[in-house]
Formats: sequence, structure tokens, C-alpha cells
Amino acid sequence: MDVIPEPRHVAAHQDGYFAPGPATGLSAGDGTQGTERWLRATLGAATGLPLPPGEAGDDDVIRLSLDPAITAELGEEGYRLDVLPNGVRLAGGGPAGLFWGAQTLRQLLGPDAFRRAPLPGRRPRLPLTRIQDAPRFRWRGLMLDVARHFLPKDDVLRQLDLMAAHKLNVFHFHLTDDQGWRVEIERYPRLTEVGSWRTRTKSGHRASPLWDEKPHGGFYTQDDIREIVAYAAERHITVVPEIDVPGHSQAAITAYPELGNTDVIDTTALSVWDNWGISPNVLAPTDNTLRFYEGVFEEILGLFPSEFVHVGGDECLKDQWRQSPTAQARIAELGVADEDGLQSWFIGHFDTWLAERGRRLIGWDEILEGGLADKAAVSSWRGYQGGIAAARAGHDVVMCPEQHVYLDYRQDGGADEPVPIAYVRTLEDVYRFEPVPPELTPEEAGHVLGTQANVWTEVMEDRGRVDYQTFPRLSAFAEVAWSSLPAPAERDFAGFERRMATHYRRLDALGVAYRPPSGPLPWQRRPGVLGRPIEGPPPNR
Ligand code: ACM
Repeated sequence: MDVIPEPRHVAAHQDGYFAPGPATGLSAGDGTQGTERWLRATLGAATGLPLPPGEAGDDDVIRLSLDPAITAELGEEGYRLDVLPNGVRLAGGGPAGLFWGAQTLRQLLGPDAFRRAPLPGRRPRLPLTRIQDAPRFRWRGLMLDVARHFLPKDDVLRQLDLMAAHKLNVFHFHLTDDQGWRVEIERYPRLTEVGSWRTRTKSGHRASPLWDEKPHGGFYTQDDIREIVAYAAERHITVVPEIDVPGHSQAAITAYPELGNTDVIDTTALSVWDNWGISPNVLAPTDNTLRFYEGVFEEILGLFPSEFVHVGGDECLKDQWRQSPTAQARIAELGVADEDGLQSWFIGHFDTWLAERGRRLIGWDEILEGGLADKAAVSSWRGYQGGIAAARAGHDVVMCPEQHVYLDYRQDGGADEPVPIAYVRTLEDVYRFEPVPPELTPEEAGHVLGTQANVWTEVMEDRGRVDYQTFPRLSAFAEVAWSSLPAPAERDFAGFERRMATHYRRLDALGVAYRPPSGPLPWQRRPGVLGRPIEGPPPNR
């Protein structure tokens, strides 16, 4: 059956199949209408079957229900799937569990179920089985950077489909950075008018001598964002927006020069950054900046209902603050020790501001420096250490250490990787990633909400490149996040690879340009962009 991520418990009922046909009905109990809609649209298109409304007690029916006994045993995201000779019984602990069960059902139907139209002469059939399943973690995330390279809305929706197919449930949407501002903010139109386009782009990583001499940009209107959020919600995916402050803000400063350290540089001379790395042009720690970003976050809260709002907080270079009389005066006024204290004050302001509005702040692990409010959570990216410190201090943590789950990092040591940056992280490395470090006590480990793979797009200029870096490693990551795998050394990677043989055919049907197991295809190589692999650390983005 080769289900990925591997379910918790699979019992073959007996040999044989249930073959749905034109008369097979779909019976939707209370609370199951979302999955009913998704099944009819997705499996209906792939199989050509109409799946008319059916009665729960009928033969030849796919019956959907919610079951409190499953909630009690497996939680809201748990499900039980029975394929019987006369039909299918799919029950969820809650609507999310039911939807994840529908993803398993689709996989059982075979790779053709991932197409958008039926292939002539193919009859869908399901192996008789009983599956009981539930996730290990409640935060099973993918971060996508749409700032370094803009990904059109349709490609974002497709990414959400790919996440759903892997039972991933948090989409961390990195919307702003030095190289572009991607979300319409009505009260500050220049953020997208000016901040969403750059005149040229470094081709390859930041040491590359090459440039792509054409404008690059784009942004999502507020209606686009509402559509993305709704599309995600139908798939039980939460979209966590990231507005990165106070660093990684050159695009915003270009649009509104008063946001920068105007007593240090002429911020009116800045442009949306055309290079990679970490820009020294950071936000000024002024009341004006705070008020401006409160305005931004007000619109963000209106667009994104998620409990968590990500404020970035990473890699804020402090040189301008050291040189700025205004920043130094603020340090003195606040009585903080230094520029790190200023960053902590800046983040702390939005921590309180979000908490007052019923939301929770999450930021990259740099936000730990200088202390955090109780409810703030941390994305641990520079390794496990930030996450360990945060969990020990009682903060919730999402484990996404770059050494393991930065999918922009190359997946093979060969010189023919398309743009081979930083560490080599193979499919097997990702499969053996363990989100909960052994140093944590069980109580501290309870603060690990889950894990997330991060896709930074400096070297991914389009969807094909994103596919190549992301897959198949995201399939391995999904299993880490969902399945209850043994300790890393004991994981059955050979067994995973065997199941991947089937899963590659699903990805083929979906049109995913993954890295094939035997290395890049000729068209996936990028000769000339980079002569030789660059060793990490540090990252070369
Ligand atoms: C990061 O990679 N700067 C979070």
C-alpha cells in the first residue's frame, strides 16, 4: 500500500479489493461536508466517478463520519479507515482527522488518483484494509520564502495541495524580506508599489559573479491572501504569516525611507535589494516605526486568523544602531544594556501588542536574546540549542534546525546539483532527523509543538526549482512529523525508499519536478550558475 507518511497501525483485513464504480455513493455524516467536497472534487476528477450522495447503511458506499471514540483514542486529527468488500468506512476524530484519512484513501487508490482526469481503461480499486492513524506532532510545518523569489498565487495553492497530500498542517508564509514585500497593505500602498519589485537579481548564491538583469517581483492582493487562507483552511492547514522585523526590512525601508536609520545613512537612496545575504539596512527603533508596523499587523490580523503570528527577528545586524544617535538615545531612555536589549524591546513590544489582541507571537530563535513573554514561541533554526533553551524556559518551540531541515541546502555532494549551497542534507539525513532532542525532560519535550521544513528561495527562481529542492525530502520530513518513528539510528530507511518507489509515481502524476533518486536530470542541472559546491556553514544564501 506504501502509504506516506506511514500510518500508525495497518491491518490487512483479507485479500481482495473494493472497486468503486459509477454507482458508488458518498455518504457524509454531520461535520464531514468539507472532506465530502474535497473527495468529490479530487477523486471525482481523477477517477471520473460521480460519487452521488449515498445512504450510510447502503452497500457500495464511501461513508464519512466523525466518531467520538476515535477522538478519545486518537485525538481530533486521528482517523480510522476500513476498506471492506462492500464499501469504505472512513471516520475521523474531528474534521481534520477525517481529511487526513481521505488523503490515505487517495494513496490507496494508486498513483492515478493524483491525476486531474481519468486515464482511459483504468479501473480504480482499493485494497481491503483497516488503518488507524494519528499524528505525532500538532505542528507539521513548511515554510516558504516568497520574498527572495515571488511564487505566483496558483503555485502557492498547489504547494498547499502538496502539503495536504503529505498531512502537513502549518504553512509558514515568509512574506517580507530585504528583496521584496509580497502582501498588499492598504494603508501603506508603497510597500507593494515600490517594495515588491527589484530591478535585477543575483543568479546563484551570493558569491556568484552572475546577474539576471531583468526586473523580478510580484505580490498578493488582500483578496489573494483571503483565497490562500481559505484554500488552506479547507485542507486543515493553518497559514502563519511572517512579517520579518527589525532586520530583513530593506524592501520596506525603500518604500518608506523614514522607517530606516536616517541619521546614519540616506535611506532615500536605497533600493529593493538585488543581492543575497543579510542587509545592514534595518528598521530604526523609533515610535514612528512601531506605529507603522502596528498598522501593518492590524491588516495582517484581519487577513490571517491563525493563533500564531511570526515576527521574524532573525539576523538583525546592529551596526546602524551602534552608529545612530537616535538608537543610542533610546537605549539610554529604556535603560537596556546594549543593542541586543533594543532588539528585545522591539520584539517585546509586538509580543504584548499581539497578546492584547488574542494572538501569540512566534519568532526565530534570536528573539530569545534578552528575554521573552511567557506565551511567545520560538522557531529554532540555528540548531537545537535555541529550542532547548526556550523549552527549558517554558516556551513552546518549533524545531527547524538548519543543519537538518533547510531544504535549500543541497541534497547531494555532486558538482552537478543545480545550485549547490551549504550543507549536504540527503533524503536519508532528513529521514533520520529527530525533532525532540534527548536532552529535554518529558515535560520540556511537551513544549516542542512540532517541526517544520524551511524553503528559502534565493536559488529557486521558479516552481520547478522549488519542487526540486523540496521533493522528495519533504516526503521524508512528513514522515518524521507525522509518524511515530523509532530513534534515528533504528529507522528503516530502506523500507521508506521502497515505499517511495510508489510515492514517486504519485508525485509524477501530480507533476512534481522532484530530484530523482539517481540525481538531477539534464534539464535540472544549471551549468554556469555556479562552478563548484560551496561548503557550509555559514550558509551562502
Ligand atoms: C533564518 O534562516 N534566517 C531564519
